[in-house]
Amino acid sequence: MQKPNYGFDAPAIMRNMIIFGIIIQIIGLLIPNFTENIMLLYLSYLVILGGVILLILGTSMYIYGIYGKFRMRDFILSKIIWKGNENVLDIGTGRGVYMINAAKHLTTGKSIGIDIWRAEDLSGNSIENAYLNAELENVRDKIEIRNDDARKLSFADNSFDVVLSMFCIHNIDDKAEQEKACLEIARVLKPNGRAMIGEWIPTHDYAKYFEKAGLKVINSKQYFSTAYSLMWMVEVVK
Ligand SMILES: C[S@@+](CC[C@H](N)C(=O)[O-])C[C@H]1O[C@@H](n2cnc3c(N)ncnc32)[C@H](O)[C@@H]1O
Repeated sequence: MQKPNYGFDAPAIMRNMIIFGIIIQIIGLLIPNFTENIMLLYLSYLVILGGVILLILGTSMYIYGIYGKFRMRDFILSKIIWKGNENVLDIGTGRGVYMINAAKHLTTGKSIGIDIWRAEDLSGNSIENAYLNAELENVRDKIEIRNDDARKLSFADNSFDVVLSMFCIHNIDDKAEQEKACLEIARVLKPNGRAMIGEWIPTHDYAKYFEKAGLKVINSKQYFSTAYSLMWMVEVVK
C-alpha cells in the first residue's frame, strides 16, 4: 500500500552540504601530505572543521526529514486544545504535513493549506502530492488547498483559529516582505487565535513584527532537541 511522503526540505542544499562536507574533510586530511609549512598545517585543521560542520548540518537536515519533522509536527499540534470546529491555515504547506495532521483533529472544522510550490524548497513539492497525501491519510474531506502567496493571502480578516507555517517565510528574500507575511498572519487570525511559525533561523524578528501588529508573543526560542536540527519557533496569540 502506498504511504504518504512529505519530502525533504531544501533537498539540494542538504545534498550539497553532505557531499561538500565530505570532500572538504578529505582535502583537509590530504594537506599535510603536500607541505610542512606550519601555517598550512594549522589551516588543514580549520578546513577539516569546516567540513565536519557542513556534514553535521547536512546530516541533521536529513534526520529532520525522516524523524524531526514528525516529532516537531506532533509537538506543535499537541499545543492546541482542539475542539474540532477550528479553521486552520498552513502557510507554505508543501506536501501538507501540517495541514493534513491538523485535519485529523477536526470534526466540523477545515484545514487549509496554501503554497506557491517552489521546487527548490521541498523534494516532490506539488499541489498534486499534497492532495495525494491527504487521500492516503483519509482527510480529503477536511482539507482545502490553494495557490496563494504568504505575502498576500486571499482570506478575509479574522478567518482562522490556528495559523501554522513551517520553514516558509525565510524563503522570502526581503525583510520587508517577510514582515508583510507576518502582518498577513496577524490579519487572518481570529481574536484569541494562535499562530506558530517555525524556521531554521532565529524567529526574533518575526516576534517583533507580530508585537508591532498588536499580537501577544508567548515565546520565540529554539527547539533543536525536538527537531534534531536547527529549528526556532515563535508562538503568538491575537
Ligand atoms: C521548506 S518547505 C516546507 C514545507 C512544509 N511546511 C513542511 O514543513 O514540510 C517551504 C515551503 O514554503 C513554500 N513557499 C515559499 N515561499 C512562499 C510564499 N511566498 N508563499 C507561500 N508559500 C511559499 C515553498 O513552496 C515550500 O512548499
